[in-house]
Amino acid sequence: MAPSLEEPIALSTPPALDTVVVPKTAINSVKPIAGDNKFGYVPGRTIVENHDNYQHEDFLPSFPDVHWVPIEPHSYEDRGLRGDPNFRNLLQDATAVFDYNPKIGTEIHGVDLATLTDAQKDDLARLIAYRGVVFFRSQKNFDIEAQRALGRHFGKLHKHATTAVPKRGDLQDVHVVYTGDNSGDNRALFSPSFLWHSDVTYEIQPPSYTSLKLLTGPPSGGGGDTLWSSQYAAYDVLSPFMQNYLKNLSALHSADMQANDSRAIGRPVRRDPVTTKHPLIRTNPVTGWNALFFNPGFVTKIVGIPKAESDAIVKYLTDVVATTQEMHARFSWGKDDVALWDNRTTTHSASYGFTPHRRHAVRVACHAERPVLEDSGKSQEEELNALYGLPAVDKDGSRQSNYND
Ligand code: SIN
Repeated sequence: MAPSLEEPIALSTPPALDTVVVPKTAINSVKPIAGDNKFGYVPGRTIVENHDNYQHEDFLPSFPDVHWVPIEPHSYEDRGLRGDPNFRNLLQDATAVFDYNPKIGTEIHGVDLATLTDAQKDDLARLIAYRGVVFFRSQKNFDIEAQRALGRHFGKLHKHATTAVPKRGDLQDVHVVYTGDNSGDNRALFSPSFLWHSDVTYEIQPPSYTSLKLLTGPPSGGGGDTLWSSQYAAYDVLSPFMQNYLKNLSALHSADMQANDSRAIGRPVRRDPVTTKHPLIRTNPVTGWNALFFNPGFVTKIVGIPKAESDAIVKYLTDVVATTQEMHARFSWGKDDVALWDNRTTTHSASYGFTPHRRHAVRVACHAERPVLEDSGKSQEEELNALYGLPAVDKDGSRQSNYND
């Protein structure tokens, strides 16, 4: 469970299962509520934080009215290729390292991201490429300069064309994630499956290594978790027939919807939106594993097949990404926690339902190679099954069963 983020300010309003929204002026003077049990526990109690003199004012969202030229193709060398195969540099000072499940997600304790050597950064890139997403708790020293320096070690930083950048003004390669106190719940804007995405895949060279640091978030139990889904595992749940079919296809990833949404609410679009064709299966250069490269958030069409077929495949792949629980890792954030993911081989989804709490995070991402499917691409599952002597997975549908009881 993630630690509490702020000193709780308790409410005098009656216990409620629903969210309690209290005017900010009232919240300093009220007494705690207590449930009638030895823990003082009240189910679903909402405690609103006091954000007067907000510590992260500089990082509040802003939308500068500037215009940038299109992103030029550029070279990319994956630092994960230089990493130690056993991650010895990164893990030498770690106090704990554990996987969330066999497919995705690893948490490391005892490592300070702010003081990594270049060799440790390379190991970190390698580990992210293998594990999809890697989590570090309480990274107080990992300030925005350290976060950007780590991103620059991995590659050229991406600048988002529409989303918020920090108010501070000199951080246009930082993406701000922000939901304010008492703001409405955004879940009505998105269906939960559509919220699954990998970032800016419409770019010609979409990001690889991406970091997100939580500045402020709901207290423990207040919601706002993020989920990641492994696209290696998504490739591996498909039949060999479907894998081969998708290997021959590409999808259009479009920035149009983001740009149109921004314009509709009067916000600037800092770079003209692009639509890019990418292969539906790509090979990660570090692991050599094939991954589905499908993005419910940005794929508008699969190219070269009838629209009805494209719509059906989009719907099916969205289901695979969003509903196959064993390929998901779910992270409950605490203050200053950092997640680093490989945006090439994972999708992610924020979760809503944390209103009235403030949730504020900063993201830095670097461009990667242009996505490519290599003839030599392998299956993660087949490689790990062979390594650990596990039986091949039965994917021929011959043993339909019903585990529900
Ligand atoms: C993101 O989509 O990059 C942010 C995810 C989150 O807000 O948890």
